[in-house]
Amino acid sequence: MSTSRSRRDFLATSAGAVGALAVPAWLRPGAVPSPTLVRSTPARLADARIDILTGEPVGTIAPEIYGHFVEHLGGVVYDGVWVGEDSAIPNVGGIRKALVDAMRPIRPGVIRWPGGCFADAYDWRDGVGSVGGRPKRTNFWADDRRLRDLGDVPARFDSNRFGTNEFMRFCRLVGGQPYLAANVRTLPARAFFDWVEYCNSPRGSTTLAELREAGGDAEPFAVRTWGVGNESWGCGGNFTPEEYAAEFRRFATWAVPDYGVGLRFIAAGPSGNDRAWTRRFFEKIAERNELGRLWGWALHHYCSSPNGEAVDYDDTAWYELLASADRMESLVTAHWGVMGEIDRQHRTKLVVDEWGAWHSMTTNVRPTDLFGQQSTIRDALVAGLTLDTFNRHADKVAMANIAQLVNCIQSLFLAAEDRFLVTPTYHVFRMYAAHQGATSLRTEVASPDLAWTDRDGEARALGMLDGSASVREGALLLTVTNRHPTEAVEVEIALRGAAATAARATTLTHADIRAHNTFEAPETVRPVTTSLDAPGATLMYRFPAASVTALELTLA
Ligand code: AHR
Repeated sequence: MSTSRSRRDFLATSAGAVGALAVPAWLRPGAVPSPTLVRSTPARLADARIDILTGEPVGTIAPEIYGHFVEHLGGVVYDGVWVGEDSAIPNVGGIRKALVDAMRPIRPGVIRWPGGCFADAYDWRDGVGSVGGRPKRTNFWADDRRLRDLGDVPARFDSNRFGTNEFMRFCRLVGGQPYLAANVRTLPARAFFDWVEYCNSPRGSTTLAELREAGGDAEPFAVRTWGVGNESWGCGGNFTPEEYAAEFRRFATWAVPDYGVGLRFIAAGPSGNDRAWTRRFFEKIAERNELGRLWGWALHHYCSSPNGEAVDYDDTAWYELLASADRMESLVTAHWGVMGEIDRQHRTKLVVDEWGAWHSMTTNVRPTDLFGQQSTIRDALVAGLTLDTFNRHADKVAMANIAQLVNCIQSLFLAAEDRFLVTPTYHVFRMYAAHQGATSLRTEVASPDLAWTDRDGEARALGMLDGSASVREGALLLTVTNRHPTEAVEVEIALRGAAATAARATTLTHADIRAHNTFEAPETVRPVTTSLDAPGATLMYRFPAASVTALELTLA
């Protein structure tokens, strides 16, 4: 695990060299001290330090950590992903081509579908078979006040045009593994077994395999990963942990046919810090010796700032959102600790299958795109901080899914008919893609604290920098987020036990902390790549304010 060393530790280990060092920029005569930097002691040449311990692997970063989420909600599926075969919008068998083209380079590890809350109201049988015969249904989200107020708009209903076969084609096109969420609240376990059979039974072997073939897919989909419900403490049934544990056992234990794919079941875990949900569920499952059936435990955490605005915010709201995102670190370690009290060998891993920055709906691209918010450079920092947290906990987190892919909460894409753009969050996924499947390395970050006062007048502080590092076949990737909204930071980066022969940096930043991409100006926030001098074992690098940076180092 990476640790974030305090500024004091960093200075203590640097103390011997102080006399030989230059005065840092912020102490030079005439420099205006930033009101938000807490600096108790002069630093040396660098304002901060990052140590990458190349001999201390944490674990392999599962490609599934770089996962996505597609729910039948607002403009996610219809128009976001699916435009229809007859559409004038360029498409591949009905799927938006621009989306497919943009997703391939980010190598989506896994894609979760069909919800979310929608999953516990969805009958998979509605979305298979002849297209003309598919029933039109009322969408789970139809009575959300913001949709209801718009009248009978299409987003309140579901044509079922996009069903299991279409989703699998989407996965194949973009190169992601499917992760299906089963309906526990409104369908019996039998329907779940049938869905597994529909997806995975061999060609021609069952009536459901024949139905799948009639839908255009003779070969099985080999779906390994299945969620057993969603948010079962809330929209997924409002169960107690004990009641949900009984449901989980009914759905996921004994004879769910495996068809040789190695099924992986994920149970609906807690919201945020609800450790009682984790403890009580695990105790109940352990009572019946069923821990072995539990591959993953799904945690949800959405971050937000009190003013709720996606684009119109000040420095305080900047810090508030980043602090809220930073809770991911303690959520991962807290739930992992509780799980380990019962699952002592830690057979079950964490799956953070909903995360992201959730703002109010004042900046939606279209009113019918429920939760279809804009996404700024601040959200890109949320993505960088969160992905770095998962990388650092590669031994604990087996999968994660940002919510949601397009036209929704923290989206990588915004689309409206023939208009399409990638958000700053997309660029972070692209810059971080090489972490997938690499070995996470213990990384120590020592940087000044940033202090601010929140809306309640409370003094708060956040570390200026955060990051993670990984290595694969001599290629080291260090990703770093500078949380300061206006100040760059000079950092000494030490490769402990290695040296680099080449380096390049890709940086995503903007002078305006509210910057975002629009259909009119889609490249307002985009990364810039530069080559650096061959660094050896130590590299000095200046991380711009409000930035996410990927440093790619070639090891000697
Ligand atoms: O992502 C939107 C919703 O947030 C999901 O449907 C639900 O699981 C969560 O509450």
